[in-house]
Amino acid sequence: VKEAVEERGPAGGQLAKEYTSAMKDYLARGGETALQRGYEIGRVALAAGLGVLDMAAMHSSALRSLLPRALERGEIAPVLKAAAEFCTESLSAYEVAHRGFRETKTALRQINEMLEQESKRIAHALHDESGQLLAAVHIALAEVALDLSPALQGRMQQISELLREVEEQLRRISHELRPTILDDLGLVPAVRFLTQGVSQRKGLAIELEGTLKGRLPPLMETALYRAVQEGLNNAARHSGAKTIRVRLEQDAQAVICSVRDDGTGFDVSSFFGKQGQKGLGLIGMRERIEAVGGILQVLSAPGQGTEIHVRVPLGA
Ligand SMILES: Nc1ncnc2c1ncn2[C@@H]1O[C@H](COP(=O)(O)OP(=O)(O)OP(=O)(O)O)[C@@H](O)[C@H]1O
Ligand SMILES: [Mg+2]
Repeated sequence: VKEAVEERGPAGGQLAKEYTSAMKDYLARGGETALQRGYEIGRVALAAGLGVLDMAAMHSSALRSLLPRALERGEIAPVLKAAAEFCTESLSAYEVAHRGFRETKTALRQINEMLEQESKRIAHALHDESGQLLAAVHIALAEVALDLSPALQGRMQQISELLREVEEQLRRISHELRPTILDDLGLVPAVRFLTQGVSQRKGLAIELEGTLKGRLPPLMETALYRAVQEGLNNAARHSGAKTIRVRLEQDAQAVICSVRDDGTGFDVSSFFGKQGQKGLGLIGMRERIEAVGGILQVLSAPGQGTEIHVRVPLGA
């Protein structure tokens, strides 16, 4: 245990010594000042990136060096009680951080729900309003065409064709944004529609293997659809991949979903460890999957491609 603390380098080693000394002081004299030192050690440890396990190791190491004297004096019960008080105080900063983390997680969950509503709204607006506007343009063009020479009517025809393509693309994008197929037919058809669209627009080969037995709970279908969507977007935007494989499978216990590309890959630990500005895709995707009781792993390394691997237990 002691080695574990010292392995953390000089900061961890130094703090462990300080912890033992402050606890010794508290055991001998009690009082707020010694407790305050314990609080301060916890705060510094948290800021230095030490975890709760490191704190437990420090505590255990301090106990190991302070208990023999207590044993000799036969004072074991009050010493253990005071050591527990000191330990609790030293963990205060972790408790506050943990509470903040839970609040952030709740907020992120609410933002995800809001985003889902918002994409539904945008999808409908895009679909209905662009559809109506384009229909009006078609009618106006047809009226103008009546007054034109046959040659110009041919040109007008070409413009109408282009407009129809625009219409088709807008329709497709609005369906991908919040696919009614997902509600009506389920995950595999919705993912198939999505992969066809992305493959066509980005010029990528996307293979889909999907074998699910019937429908899944709606929240689970949405979370998995969003994970595949973000996985495909990331592969198309960041990886330079040629081929992407999407797999959806189900066994008795869980649904398994993966998106794997043969692109550049990236250093996952440095992304998740990084502070400050970074994308929200992977974080949001993990939160959505955890909200339905699942686990999301990002497996990648520079030069090795990337795999998003999701497992959602069916009983969750
Ligand atoms: N398939 C991938 N191939 C290579 N790099 C990737 C892949 N997926 C993610 N990354 C890297 O991880 C980073 C974080 O991805 P994330 O989806 O969280 O954010 P983003 O795509 O940059 O922005 P956002 O999703 O918020 O629009 C990316 O910026 C990119 O550097
Ligand atoms: Mg992204």
